[in-house]
Amino acid sequence: MARLVLYTETAEDIASAFPGAAKVEMRSFPDGESYARIPENCKGKDVLVLHRCYPNINENLIKLLQITAAARSQSPKSLRVFVPYLPYARMDKTVKEGEAISADIVCSLLKSVGCTELITVDCHFIKEGAGNFERAGLKIKNLTAADALLAYLKPKAPNAVTISPDAGASYMSSHAEGGQSMKKVRADYDAGSSSAYRKIEKLEAGFDVKGKGVIIIDDMVSTGSTMIKAVKVLREEGAGKVHCATTHGLFLNDALAKLKAAGASEVICTDSIPSPAAKVSVAKLLSGAV
Ligand code: R5P
Repeated sequence: MARLVLYTETAEDIASAFPGAAKVEMRSFPDGESYARIPENCKGKDVLVLHRCYPNINENLIKLLQITAAARSQSPKSLRVFVPYLPYARMDKTVKEGEAISADIVCSLLKSVGCTELITVDCHFIKEGAGNFERAGLKIKNLTAADALLAYLKPKAPNAVTISPDAGASYMSSHAEGGQSMKKVRADYDAGSSSAYRKIEKLEAGFDVKGKGVIIIDDMVSTGSTMIKAVKVLREEGAGKVHCATTHGLFLNDALAKLKAAGASEVICTDSIPSPAAKVSVAKLLSGAV
């Protein structure tokens, strides 16, 4: 059965791993509303859509829904979408009564427009690592960059202990022998602030790193608070060189520079979000999986 790979301008680099991929026609109306058109008929084909939803997550999410719905209207045999960094995956449970569980909303939207499988990388709400999952009726194939990130750093830090800064990413440190996980406790929302970010109250190691090299690995570095704190705590506890690895390097608020200032010798990530620190290609992860 014929396969048709479609991509948007957010994923030109990923599409280069798929010869013959066709670019989706995207335009916009004067008020900013986006327009999408599939350039080839999808009927009876196994369709794979390649699209990044970051930056401009709201707009890019709508574009993804438009593309998927347009492809579905032509009756493809299957309709998979590859979104390396899935936005809205963070809010996967309520902390306070009345909160929106955004992860469910995004998954059910994708399902409703006809996506037969979402392929993503180190999805925040999947704490088990690589595998096949389901959320809000949507089938999800979660890939992990843990092995590729660790393979890049291992020659530079051969005897390092691999540590995740919290239990949620412990599946990533468990890809290395003897991998450990720190304990993270977040505070409540800041009263009087509109930020949904809950500061870190505590980050504890609870194991010995004195004189040892360390690799800290996490699914994402957003503001960098978690990773910066982890670097500081481990350095205070006597760790030697500290290398940092993350799948999704958002590096908001100058987080990359702050990590280096905190004592990280090297910081690497994948190109799920294009970044100067990217050392691992998500196109490679994807082509090994489809
Ligand atoms: C948390 O559960 C995640 O694994 C990351 O540790 C966290 O989301 C990173 O965010 P930030 O860089 O803002 O601390």
